[in-house]
Amino acid sequence: MTPDPEKLGLFAFRVFTKLEGAVTSGMIHLGDQLGLYRALAEAGSPCTTADLAAVTGLDERWVREWAYNQGAAQIIHLDGDEALSMSPEAVAVLASPDHPSFGMGMFHRLPQTMAALEEMPEAFRTGLGLNYDSHGREGAVGVERSFEPWNRANLLPVVLPALEGVETALEAGALALDVGCGAGGAALLLASRFPASRVVGYDISRFALERARERQTEQQVANVEFFDPRTVPLPTDGSAAFITTFDCLHDMTDPAAMARAIRAALAESGTWLLVEIKAQDTYAENVARNPMASLMYGISVLSCMSSGLSEPGGAGLGTLGLSAAKVDQLAQAAGFSRCRQLDIDHAVNAFYELRP
Ligand SMILES: C[S@@+](CC[C@H](N)C(=O)[O-])C[C@H]1O[C@@H](n2cnc3c(N)ncnc32)[C@H](O)[C@@H]1O
Repeated sequence: MTPDPEKLGLFAFRVFTKLEGAVTSGMIHLGDQLGLYRALAEAGSPCTTADLAAVTGLDERWVREWAYNQGAAQIIHLDGDEALSMSPEAVAVLASPDHPSFGMGMFHRLPQTMAALEEMPEAFRTGLGLNYDSHGREGAVGVERSFEPWNRANLLPVVLPALEGVETALEAGALALDVGCGAGGAALLLASRFPASRVVGYDISRFALERARERQTEQQVANVEFFDPRTVPLPTDGSAAFITTFDCLHDMTDPAAMARAIRAALAESGTWLLVEIKAQDTYAENVARNPMASLMYGISVLSCMSSGLSEPGGAGLGTLGLSAAKVDQLAQAAGFSRCRQLDIDHAVNAFYELRP
């Protein structure tokens, strides 16, 4: 079969746009890590590469070449050869950690995510993946920076009021658990907002637990603790009024067992807030409805599915592995009789209220 010359050119272009994206992603990582976006946003009006190099303490020639990449990729604006500026939207996504659209978390952990490539040939041969600790401390910080900006802006004012009776129970004082808590952001938010309640975060990643405890000390929040559930298991006496799982059930090697453990920990009147990636039932539907499907399947190989296969016999659901129908099945099998999807607008996540 001889390739059609015109189609060949277009196909090769498509393949190389992926490499362009990967390399520009590396440059976005540098822009974040070196403080270039923050400095440019603070500069306000257009500044030169020399100005930017001076305020960041970096070498002008390197800053200029980085800026040419960023200008050519239309991430920042370059007027002529040297005058740099950012649109308000670029400032929100690249330089505003408190903005719900801040997007530097996934770029923060790009080196660790890509380093997983070295382990992948072995994983493809053996079937065994790697858990989140294989991404080291910076992997945990990257996850923290990925999910928290939206949570900080929306968890307390938008998500909690959408759940029946949860705020009242936590105001009065109750036990709340955050399973797969990562660096502890949600647990710390809940504990600070509801001082009469006790919050326990669980994660199997030592780097995530270290980071969570570090932040607890920094923020001086007394009513929260963090544990590895393999050494300090979830309670089995129905003592928890509220349990949350944020973007982590699909990463677990045995999500069905975790759903049963959550059911055993939860009071009859309790609520499980299950936050998962918005997924469809099939590959074809995911590709048709999700413009980021290829990114998500790739992250799944390098991170989510790998984590879900990090023990022999792991479920390996992967990033797009828990559709609404599968959430429903999993919840019913674990003893939950009510499952309601909340009407919350999020680019990536779906929110479910599960009750016994
Ligand atoms: C994508 S991160 C989400 C972290 C956090 N919920 C957040 O939103 O920032 C998934 C987390 O699930 C944790 N995890 C995976 N399997 C687990 C298990 N069996 N029990 C508890 N945590 C687990 C990982 O270590 C990782 O920290």
